[in-house]
Amino acid sequence: MSDPSYTPRPDSSPPRTVMVVDDERNIRRALGLILESEGYQMAEAGTAERAAETLARSASPVDLVVLDLMLPKMSGLQWLERLKQDGLYRHIPVIVISGHASSEEAAQAIKLGAVDFFEKPLNRERVLLSVGKALENAGLMRQLASLSAQLDTHQEMIGNTPLMRQLYSNVERVAPTKANVLIMGPSGTGKELVSRAIHRLSTRAGKPFVKVNCAAFPRELIESQLFGHEKGAFTGADKSKRGLFEQAHGATLFLDEIGDMDLAAQAKVLRVLQSGEVNRVGSEHTFHVDVRVLAASNKDLEREVAGGSFREDLFFRLNVFPIHVPVLDERTDDIPLLAEAFMQAFCGDNGFKPKPISVEVCAALQRRKWPGNVRELKNVIERAVILSGEEITIADLPEDPHIDPFEEPAHAATAGPGAASQGGSGKRPTLREFREQAERRHIIDTLVEHEWNVSRTAVALGVERTNLHKKIRTYEIRRGETR
Ligand SMILES: Nc1ncnc2c1ncn2[C@@H]1O[C@H](COP(=O)(O)OP(=O)(O)OP(=O)(O)O)[C@@H](O)[C@H]1O
Ligand SMILES: [Mg+2]
Repeated sequence: MSDPSYTPRPDSSPPRTVMVVDDERNIRRALGLILESEGYQMAEAGTAERAAETLARSASPVDLVVLDLMLPKMSGLQWLERLKQDGLYRHIPVIVISGHASSEEAAQAIKLGAVDFFEKPLNRERVLLSVGKALENAGLMRQLASLSAQLDTHQEMIGNTPLMRQLYSNVERVAPTKANVLIMGPSGTGKELVSRAIHRLSTRAGKPFVKVNCAAFPRELIESQLFGHEKGAFTGADKSKRGLFEQAHGATLFLDEIGDMDLAAQAKVLRVLQSGEVNRVGSEHTFHVDVRVLAASNKDLEREVAGGSFREDLFFRLNVFPIHVPVLDERTDDIPLLAEAFMQAFCGDNGFKPKPISVEVCAALQRRKWPGNVRELKNVIERAVILSGEEITIADLPEDPHIDPFEEPAHAATAGPGAASQGGSGKRPTLREFREQAERRHIIDTLVEHEWNVSRTAVALGVERTNLHKKIRTYEIRRGETR
């Protein structure tokens, strides 16, 4: 190499793919010869429209684009602008070339995010220098993203109990591999957080993390979401569309709530996992994708397999590396840490001064049951921050909904103090007393009607359950009481 600053690609890394977008065939050929002589793979397109297609379908993910500015129909600058707004592709470096470069256009291209600009005729050394540098910089950026992700990950996933440490160790072990991962755990345990951590600690860290919630789409739509469709494939398909597998080419696809996917879509997903091949709905054309799949489910998939609603072969494909996320009730020692972190974050976001959480509050939080797991704890803390004064106290916590307020009926009272404050013989009650008495009576009637079930009564009265609990305490209403 004549230029000492040019660093050749290390032999151990896979070949890099450069896409050349130019309407002149000769230029594409010339660039192809230069690039292939140095071990790069080349993809090509004659128009911006074709370039978008090639990007999505090239056999290996495109690492760099060399883009001519003078293109028929959509100009190179227009396409560049669009590319840099596309979350999936904006990380790909673009080098711009032009036959009749105006310095204005060059400046515009750099402003839009191009990393270099040069004029035709092409000079071999100049091309290789520019391509080498752009790829090297992109690699450094990716390393940087992955390093800062490593620093970040454990800050984001909070917990220091042995169960959590085991989880981190599994995440770190599986992340750099190509293995598919199945993440299981009840709702709110942090499955999505785990899958993002795996992506960020993987070699695909600088590439997109494409997420799809399989439960959010009706049966007919999920296949077109995942695999895309051709124009006219079904009524309403007035344009062809890239599927999420195509969009995640070279990157990570997170299939959330995979237990809710219907059997027909499961069969297609299995096929992609086995062969790497995708067909859009309504098309025979097959193309190859390189996608790492992470899947999550809050259902027990083994049971779904036994019950026939989940394919066994797909389960085995995904279950190469299962990760079980522990429920919060199994790691109550993490509760003070989590509560403190949620308080700090919420106060920070809302410009509040941090509000200390007392030892008693922590103990109360640890005594509770958390069927909604970390998500539920987060909600409770955020609510407490809003309700509290300078510090968070027990009174700022909602009633534990998993405790029945009528469980221990206090000394069989038949009439509460509400009855006693009737206003006395002949004495007219104040408006406020009257309102409270009426409210108390109405609450008792509704409770009786709903067999003293607080949740249903709250719904019937149109109030929050916690609000109803408060009134029950204030009015000292007791189970079995009649008005
Ligand atoms: N270990 C953790 N540290 C900090 N925050 C956490 C942790 N686990 C979960 N969270 C927070 O709890 C909430 C729920 O997490 P997440 O969405 O990952 O759960 P999930 O298991 O995917 O739930 P679902 O099954 O309902 O989709 C999020 O706000 C997340 O940031
Ligand atoms: Mg989730």
